[in-house]
Amino acid sequence: MEVPFVDLSRAHAAVRSKLHDAAVRVIDSCTYIGGEEVRGFERDLAEWLGVAEAVGTGCATFGLFAAVRSLGIGPGDEVLTTVHTAIATAEAISLSGARVVFCDIDPQTFNMDPEDLRDRITERSKAVVVVHLYGQPADLDGVMEIARESGLKVIEDCAQALGARYKGRYVGTLGDVGVFSFFPSKPLGGFGDGGAVIARDTGLLKWIRMFSNHGREEKYVHQFEGVNSRLDAIQAALLRVCLPHLEEWNRLRREAAHAYSERLSAIDEVQVPAELPGTEPVYHVYCIVVPDRDDLRRYLKERGVSTGIHYPAPLNLQPAYAHLGQGRGHFPRAEYACGHMLSLPLFPGITSVEIRYVCDCIADYFGRG
Ligand SMILES: Cc1ncc(COP(=O)(O)O)c(C=O)c1O
Repeated sequence: MEVPFVDLSRAHAAVRSKLHDAAVRVIDSCTYIGGEEVRGFERDLAEWLGVAEAVGTGCATFGLFAAVRSLGIGPGDEVLTTVHTAIATAEAISLSGARVVFCDIDPQTFNMDPEDLRDRITERSKAVVVVHLYGQPADLDGVMEIARESGLKVIEDCAQALGARYKGRYVGTLGDVGVFSFFPSKPLGGFGDGGAVIARDTGLLKWIRMFSNHGREEKYVHQFEGVNSRLDAIQAALLRVCLPHLEEWNRLRREAAHAYSERLSAIDEVQVPAELPGTEPVYHVYCIVVPDRDDLRRYLKERGVSTGIHYPAPLNLQPAYAHLGQGRGHFPRAEYACGHMLSLPLFPGITSVEIRYVCDCIADYFGRG
């Protein structure tokens, strides 16, 4: 049997004709930048999240950068984040001119460890970017309490976590700013790049909207220098078709993850993802930790199962951060996780037969077939 790591076509099957109609509608409208499709999606997303407003952006990397800049953060400042994340999180900080300060992870949730965060705060610290990696809500109570004590702003990187809940509330709505990605494999995947930002302070959001559009509200009146990072009309129209299905797609992701965990937690050598009490993850990625990840990966590939690695190295070990001088040994928990994690196939529409097959292969590998 062949089990793909991700198959987007299965979720799309239910909306295929609506997607085609929406694409044709935008093409025929000749409005490709801004316009009613973008405003409509921003309204739909804000309503879905229960917030007043959302701003569409060209991608979440820009959204995070704009979030950092909107808080007045720049050279001489420090922003803390997890060392175990996509480089986009850290790039957004460095691009602002601030110094990125990495924190180690909680080995059970793979998210930022609030105690490690506390230890790394200095008088230069201005904000924390908390990442809900793999769609698992981070320990927000822990992070927010420390942030409050130290006067830090909180940016939630929800690139992988649209629809995940923390104590009944959507992640992204609890910090000062929340940022989402519509990269195709994300919970709400678009058909190219895209992102969105929400914020507690509508003034910040107004600034982010202008920053994403050359510092202007009106054509040819630029209040300040910005960039061009807007959500395209065609992406917005397609995302509007998908958004009403997100809750169901996230439910299917959770169901698949729980089916894996139920079976795999019986194998001593396999660590399955832990869920913090009061959280409802969306499992953008389902990662297990095993003694020899590369060998298991090879074994599964030989049996037709595609897997992924998220991520092969924590950011301190990436050449881009060599200048920080934090080589191997600085973040032992993240370094261990990156060397031992394997992401299993998971996407809306994966069948129970496929999940059972993957689990059977893993059980066989460990001699528990
Ligand atoms: C945790 C995290 N943050 C930020 C991003 C950046 O998202 P985008 O590709 O929309 O710029 C990603 C995308 O991979 C991500 O996984």
